[in-house]
Amino acid sequence: MIRVGVITASDKGSRGEREDLSGPTLIKLVQEIGGEVVEYVVLPDEQTLLAEKMRQWADELRLDLILTTGGTGFSMRDVMPEATLSVADRLVPGIAEVMRMESLKVTSKAMLSRAVAVLRKQTLIINMPGSPKAVRECFAAIAPAIPHGIQILK
Ligand code: MTE
Repeated sequence: MIRVGVITASDKGSRGEREDLSGPTLIKLVQEIGGEVVEYVVLPDEQTLLAEKMRQWADELRLDLILTTGGTGFSMRDVMPEATLSVADRLVPGIAEVMRMESLKVTSKAMLSRAVAVLRKQTLIINMPGSPKAVRECFAAIAPAIPHGIQILK
């Protein structure tokens, strides 16, 4: 069983001013491939808070996989890639390459996502864009290879 944490970056969501639809979408998708979402949080677009949560879930909870949604675009508040890179031990460029490659077939705006994927210790961390539609498209692109990658990490 793959143990997963989901982080949504949303200033409005963290203040309760907007319902997070992407996090719950990710939770459903993870369950469909037999994973278990054991942690889920909506945080403001603050690099230090996002990085702290990733570090805690990787080091203390030793989650297999952390999926993030939102905060990968060009807005000045979009800092999810920077938070993720700040906790990275190793980079996994192929995962973000495939998400963008497949997403470009749907929308040219896919190139605007600065999403990254990294390894911290034995945890795989993957950024996804913020909309439920983007989350579904990106997840479909990478889901087939994820269980094998996580198996090798152990
Ligand atoms: N990727 C997919 N698969 N589908 C989409 O609709 N939207 C794009 C892009 N990636 C999109 C996508 C858009 S419009 C933006 S601005 C960037 O992701 C960044 O989104 P974010 O700031 O919500 O992370």
